[in-house]
Amino acid sequence: MDRPYIVCHMMTALDGKITGPYMNTAAIKGPAQEYERTNASYRPQAWLCGRVTTDENFTCYKKPALDENAPAVPAGDYVAVQGTEMHYVSVDASGRIGWESNTLKYEDRPAAHIVEVLTEKASNAYRAFLRRMNISYIVAGKDQLDCRLAAEKLKALFKIETLMLSGGGFINWSFLQAGLVDELSLVIAPLADGENKTPTLFEKSDFLPAAVPVEFTLTHVDKGLGDSLWLRYKVINTPRA
Ligand SMILES: NC(=O)c1ccc[n+]([C@@H]2O[C@H](COP(=O)([O-])OP(=O)(O)OC[C@H]3O[C@@H](n4cnc5c(N)ncnc54)[C@H](OP(=O)(O)O)[C@@H]3O)[C@@H](O)[C@H]2O)c1
Repeated sequence: MDRPYIVCHMMTALDGKITGPYMNTAAIKGPAQEYERTNASYRPQAWLCGRVTTDENFTCYKKPALDENAPAVPAGDYVAVQGTEMHYVSVDASGRIGWESNTLKYEDRPAAHIVEVLTEKASNAYRAFLRRMNISYIVAGKDQLDCRLAAEKLKALFKIETLMLSGGGFINWSFLQAGLVDELSLVIAPLADGENKTPTLFEKSDFLPAAVPVEFTLTHVDKGLGDSLWLRYKVINTPRA
């Protein structure tokens, strides 16, 4: 395969919500432990998140320190570091994330080298900023993300064989509708909070074409800590009529 094996790995409440007040309860602890344990069981070389997830969880919406007069950087991709055990792949089509380091440490995962996924609309100043920070980047798509090209480059340039697609809902749907998800790995927490404005597991961006339903086949069901369920599905990429 010319791209990584892609597992969409997520934790949700009973209603499919991926964030909300339920995340701040004591009862989320057991399921959260299961989320990390099951993530590690795939022995991935990378996990990938959307721009909102990165801003909310890792960079706190910090703005990048741009030099608008930076000399023009060479066209194409930039590999700052090779041979790292773990990568954090940050989808950032316009180039907005204000990274302060080229390495991300999360939970007990190995320190991850940051790889930004840009589109051609990301500015020269932002690319120069990433080079200055020793952060790798790939360019995939003109205005919108070309998910397949991104996946192919991640394998070719960083030797990523197994990629955990880890939210949020908008980036998950982008990869799913492009036929690029091989497996869905879902840890369900026995919680609900009734919020009606929080995202679910899959959300379609307005700029994407009308949604085609996707079908899944259940392969495993396991009970875990804190009454969580670990559900694993294969994706049927060509839905049956
Ligand atoms: N429970 C879990 O397991 C879990 C895991 C991860 C995240 N989360 C939570 O999920 C929430 C965020 O989820 P979300 O769905 O709102 O956001 P998201 O998927 O993290 O990010 C959405 C952004 O990603 C970019 N994007 C997505 N699809 C794209 C495409 N096809 N082309 C180009 N860019 C694309 C866009 O960035 P631009 O706006 O820059 O264009 C879009 O606004 C956070 O609260 C986070 O904590 C939960």
